[in-house]
Amino acid sequence: MIWLIGCKGMLGTELSMLLEKQGVPFTGTDREIDITDPAALEAYTERPEFRGRIGWIVNCAAYTAVDKAEGDVEACRGLNTTGPANIARTARKIGARLIHISTDYVFDGRGIPAGFSGGDPNFPALRPYREDDPTDPIGVYGLTKRDGEAAVLEHNGDSYIVRTAWLYGRHGNNFVHTMLRLMNEQGSVKVVDDQRGSPTWAADLSQALVSLIAASGGAGAEVPGSPAPGVYHYTGEGAVTWFGFAREIYAQGRRLGLITKDCEVRPCTSAEYPARVTRPAYSVLDKGKIKTALGLSIPPWEESLARYLRARGEV
Ligand SMILES: NC(=O)c1ccc[n+]([C@@H]2O[C@H](COP(=O)([O-])OP(=O)(O)OC[C@H]3O[C@@H](n4cnc5c(N)ncnc54)[C@H](OP(=O)(O)O)[C@@H]3O)[C@@H](O)[C@H]2O)c1
Repeated sequence: MIWLIGCKGMLGTELSMLLEKQGVPFTGTDREIDITDPAALEAYTERPEFRGRIGWIVNCAAYTAVDKAEGDVEACRGLNTTGPANIARTARKIGARLIHISTDYVFDGRGIPAGFSGGDPNFPALRPYREDDPTDPIGVYGLTKRDGEAAVLEHNGDSYIVRTAWLYGRHGNNFVHTMLRLMNEQGSVKVVDDQRGSPTWAADLSQALVSLIAASGGAGAEVPGSPAPGVYHYTGEGAVTWFGFAREIYAQGRRLGLITKDCEVRPCTSAEYPARVTRPAYSVLDKGKIKTALGLSIPPWEESLARYLRARGEV
């Protein structure tokens, strides 16, 4: 059985729906089992219905309010560093495997020089971040997530850490929802064109997580030939700026009738949108490791957006 922590968040909701659809046994908790309270975590695993039955823990709970985190350091650290450490210890104690979700914000976003090969087609001087590139977060959120990764691996070296970026899904506030709303309300929207990353549908990531569990034996015990524990990157395939992403949302949303009037999508710079935290300018993650480990083919981000918007239109 899988214990899905943070089951009511954006990724947690999507993963719950997938597990339900695929008939995979799981139990989900959110705020009611506080991850900053180790006794609460342990007590949950001791409930008669779960004792000895939890083979996997997937942690989707986190403090994700990037700007608010700058003034709320202790709460952010509690959820992003202490909580994951508690979960890793609990997993170890009950002999469960752990998947912990992390972020592109562990990098500073200045990119890695490409050298002679492997450059990003749009930024030939840079290449996408690999799992073992040095981390150097630029804000409280990224710092606490980076420390959370280290804490998980320290307390349970058999864990998987899956870093993702630019998530959207059915549940919660996200860029796609915001754009659809603004484009229906306003005659024009201005969107930053100097930050590049890879939009990721939470449903695609959920499928990859289920594949990772299946490839690792499903029942919890490591099987020969299963993906090695450690850090993996997963995002949609391809990369774009927020402006490019918005233009695609507009084009597809208009075609599908989700946007019912004309709206001009205009590029601007990050400097025109003062925020408490500098966002990583180049956030593209190299996904070669997870693709090889799981034999995955990751859909291009535009295709995933189309599937997401079609599914949304049908609701
Ligand atoms: N969203 C993105 O674009 C993005 C990008 C890269 C990586 N990630 C990572 O992906 C993962 C999932 O992100 P998400 O966007 O799905 O997050 P989310 O929507 O903010 O979900 C987090 C969930 O954790 C719950 N939670 C809060 N405090 C808790 C506590 N003390 N104990 C247990 N649960 C608690 C939250 O409840 P409340 O809502 O009531 O607070 C919420 O349901 C996170 O690790 C995040 O860092 C996200």
